[in-house]
Amino acid sequence: MNSEQLIETAKALIVHKKGILAADESGNTIKKRFDSIGIASTEITRRDYRQMLFETEEIYSYISGIILFDETIRQASSDGDSLVSKIAAQGIIPGIKVDKGAKALAGSHGETITEGLDGLRERLEEYYELGARFTKWRGVLSIGNNLPTPYCVETNAHALARFAALSQEANLVPIVEPEVLMDGDHSIDACYDATSYVLREVYDHLARQNILLEGTLLKPNMVLSGKDATNRVNAGQVAEFTVKCLLETVPEQVPGIVFLSGGQSDEEATVNLSAINQVATEQCVPWQLSFSYGRGLQSAPLKAWAGSSDNLQSAQQSFYQRCKVTSLARQGLYNT
Ligand code: 13P
Repeated sequence: MNSEQLIETAKALIVHKKGILAADESGNTIKKRFDSIGIASTEITRRDYRQMLFETEEIYSYISGIILFDETIRQASSDGDSLVSKIAAQGIIPGIKVDKGAKALAGSHGETITEGLDGLRERLEEYYELGARFTKWRGVLSIGNNLPTPYCVETNAHALARFAALSQEANLVPIVEPEVLMDGDHSIDACYDATSYVLREVYDHLARQNILLEGTLLKPNMVLSGKDATNRVNAGQVAEFTVKCLLETVPEQVPGIVFLSGGQSDEEATVNLSAINQVATEQCVPWQLSFSYGRGLQSAPLKAWAGSSDNLQSAQQSFYQRCKVTSLARQGLYNT
């Protein structure tokens, strides 16, 4: 393991003004996204859509890294060059989602464990050869009646730490993503309690498995009230709760925290990120607070593209605009 390389890569991913595009939707997820605009998900439509994003001019001003799915890291663009080369041409760092998804956790009541550890060492070696310099693994936790359970939290934290150890061994920066879902009608206090508990367990397991924290990034949910809560809280409250939760649980050696958008609208995710950065600056937090958005960056350009090459220009304009405003939010400068 090359610690210096890991630390350099982590720093490059959270460099001033920039954040990460998560374009790593699995086959099922990208199908859902394409269903929403009424187009079929085929190898060609997936390629065209992602090529449109990666070839958007000058997104390197706002985007430091792009997380890919297994198919995409191996895929050629319409002109025959690899899609990875399109990313590298902009000086953007390619990354790869390496988990195999959340599956039913045996012996639990409806909770999940993220799979993909078997054979991971060999897959990581190959991904490095294909150009990846960082990895992502997402554990999923739900809030509900007595959920998440200690069983689910500990099992996922253990898997996240195993993934992180194997990634660092392969000189790939692990993005550790324990997502507490916003599904449900819970209060922001319930989200705060669950997120604090999950993050404490995650850092306990990372310490036990000798992870070099300086060569990792954390990808958490923001602390929010549930999607169906009667009292959706405002951005100021989201920022206060989120920064407090992170200050209490995330070690200062972690260089950066890159939030997921997690089902918020793009506007909500942007407003909240900006408020979080404003509060974080006031409180002199030790980490960079940036983004690693999927839907938060892609919802608008996906709609604008709508599966037709005629819409290429407007889709790219829309994507560029989302990157730009999210970068402003990452600096605490986005005001509606
Ligand atoms: P969203 O921003 O759409 O939540 O996607 C981020 C991600 O990579 C989830 O794993």
